[in-house]
Amino acid sequence: MTKSGDDAQPGQRRLFRLAVLASGSGSNLQAIIDQLHRPEVVVRDLSEDVPEIGDAVRSGEPDRVTWQPVIPGEPRMEVVLVLSDVPEAFALTRARRAGIPTRVLVPRDFASREEHDLALVSALCEAEPDLVVLAGYMRLLSPAVIRAFPYRIINLHPALLPSFPGTSAIQDALRYGVKITGVTVHFVDEGMDTGPIIAQEAVRVEEGDTEETLATRIHAVEHRLLPDTIRLFAAGRVHPPLPGSRVVTVD
Ligand code: GRF
Repeated sequence: MTKSGDDAQPGQRRLFRLAVLASGSGSNLQAIIDQLHRPEVVVRDLSEDVPEIGDAVRSGEPDRVTWQPVIPGEPRMEVVLVLSDVPEAFALTRARRAGIPTRVLVPRDFASREEHDLALVSALCEAEPDLVVLAGYMRLLSPAVIRAFPYRIINLHPALLPSFPGTSAIQDALRYGVKITGVTVHFVDEGMDTGPIIAQEAVRVEEGDTEETLATRIHAVEHRLLPDTIRLFAAGRVHPPLPGSRVVTVD
């Protein structure tokens, strides 16, 4: 039996496991936790009011509470690991508050980039994720990591790629003077923000926008677009490009 329950009988709801990599504040991790993370909660007394289980519904089993899927038939989703390269990243605090296992792999603790990425692959493999989500993870992944999870690593970027790749996308868009920027979710390949695009949404640049005001509107879109895209993955509706193409289809 795999952890993700791939061999579940038809009709049984399967579990979709997420690993999230984050280096910073983790507001997108929080959006994933709030909108998607539905751990199975075991309670001793079902007659008790258990506030933290929120919209959970009783599964009918004696001591278990399961979650109501947002879309009927959608698998239950669980963030099984939050991994960071920055020990003080607030994303780790958010994960711990939600009871999610965390790992910290600080690059300078490793002799080489290869060794660091080997440890990263092994931590991810242990967690058996169905999807790895880069939500503000500020390091390029090496080919070894990407090869370990083919078309199962996605990244969130605060611009309409291929415009404004890199770590200062919001500022770059503002300085360039574009009137429309936005948010992209894309597969991760070996380049910097170059992988096949899965989802995009435009955000208008308003007169007088500062980096801060524009970032606030971009983040609001991110907090919706990323969880929605993950839902499409969990429902099996995202299809990687065919060989020789970079066009992702979403049905
Ligand atoms: C987001 O704007 C994302 O697009 C970029 O990094 C930022 C992470 O923000 N890759 P947060 O840590 O999720 O708040």
